This record gives sequence, structure tokens and C-alpha cells, in this order.
Amino acid sequence: MKFFVDTAVVEDIKELNDYGLLDGVTTNPSLIAKSGRDFKEVIAEICSFVDGPVSAEVAAMDYDGMVAEGDHLAEIANNVVIKLPLTLDGLKACRYFTNKGIKTNVTLCFTANQALLAAKAGATYISPFVGRLDDINIDGMDLIRDIRAIYDNYGFETEILAASIRSANHVKEAAIAGADVSTIPPSVIKGLAKHVLTDKGLEQFAKDWAATGQTIL
Ligand code: E4P
Repeated sequence: MKFFVDTAVVEDIKELNDYGLLDGVTTNPSLIAKSGRDFKEVIAEICSFVDGPVSAEVAAMDYDGMVAEGDHLAEIANNVVIKLPLTLDGLKACRYFTNKGIKTNVTLCFTANQALLAAKAGATYISPFVGRLDDINIDGMDLIRDIRAIYDNYGFETEILAASIRSANHVKEAAIAGADVSTIPPSVIKGLAKHVLTDKGLEQFAKDWAATGQTIL
């Protein structure tokens, strides 16, 4: 499973990229607002050091507006992925960008039928929102499993990008369910490396090593 980081904070993206843990980046209008930065400037900066796909979301709600904004965003860098909402206009815009050879990420997906439509529109990625479904007491991971089954039934190449991932358990469950990608907040990615027994074991090894009085170098 690929790891995308779900943030517009450049320092966090750089840190994870330096660890070699990043396959791509997703942003959305809320994350851009939180960063307090200029949208196009921040996308250009991310694309200057991330090789993988970087999702930039249109703000328009209508087809013509989405096409105009998406064409403009796609000029920023070759690895910009145009993020479009799962609406009829968004699906039409998805087909437009796919036909032009520009990658797309269809977002705000909450049902398997919506994911089926995105695949038929030629989406590169479909983003089912796991955490937001959990928030309303619907098992978000069931949606990932349903989409996996449907896409496999018909050989759709659209990649399942598990979004609204909020915990380490979400990451594990998405991987078990067969998501192609998870987009994950930076703190959750870093938290995956942590275990209390790892820390305890390391502390003991350091103590025992010091007692030997040896050095390696
Ligand atoms: C990413 O593409 C989504 O916009 C993001 O994962 C949504 O996460 P949230 O539901 O925690 O805001």
C-alpha cells in the first residue's frame, strides 16, 4: 500500500519525504486554509521536492469552472493530480482530464456506487472518506472492502485511495482491505513507528551495551 501524506504543511512533508516514507501528497481546501499559505504557491513548492502525485483540489462547483481551474493547476507541475468532487459535474470534468492524459482524484466518496461512477469516468484515484463515515456510525472500512470487490470484479484500474484516515488502526485495516493507497496525517504516519516495547527494549540494550565498555567505531 502506498502512503500519501494528507497535509499542506511543507515542513511536515519534507520531514516524511526525507525518511523515504512518502509516495505522494493530498491537499484539500480546508488543509490549504489551515496552512495559511497561497494555494498555487504551496502546490508548486511541494511539487519541487516530491516526485510522486500531488493532489490539488478545484474550488468551482460547475463543469466549466472545474475545467478552467484544473487546466490552470495542471500547469504548475507534471505531478499535479486534479482533485474533483464526486458530483455529476465533477465526473464530467474527470472524463475531460482523463481524456487529456491528466491524472485525477475524485474526492468526497461515501458509497460504492459513487466509486463505480468514478471508475467509469476514468478516475486515476477514488477517495472514500473512512473517518467521516465512522463519525456518523457507518463503518468506513466496509466501503473500502465493497469498492475493492467491485473494482476487482470488473478489472477497473482506478486506485482506491483511503482518505479521512485518522488512526493507526485505520491504516492497518485499509491495508488488509486492499486499499491501493492511504492518505494519512503526518502525526499518524510517524506514530506507526512507535511501540512502548520498542522504547523499553532500546533502553535495555543501551544500558547493557554501555556496561560492556565497547565501541563499534
Ligand atoms: C484527503 O484527500 C481528504 O480530503 C482528507 O483525508 C479528509 O480528511 P478529514 O475527514 O479528516 O478532514
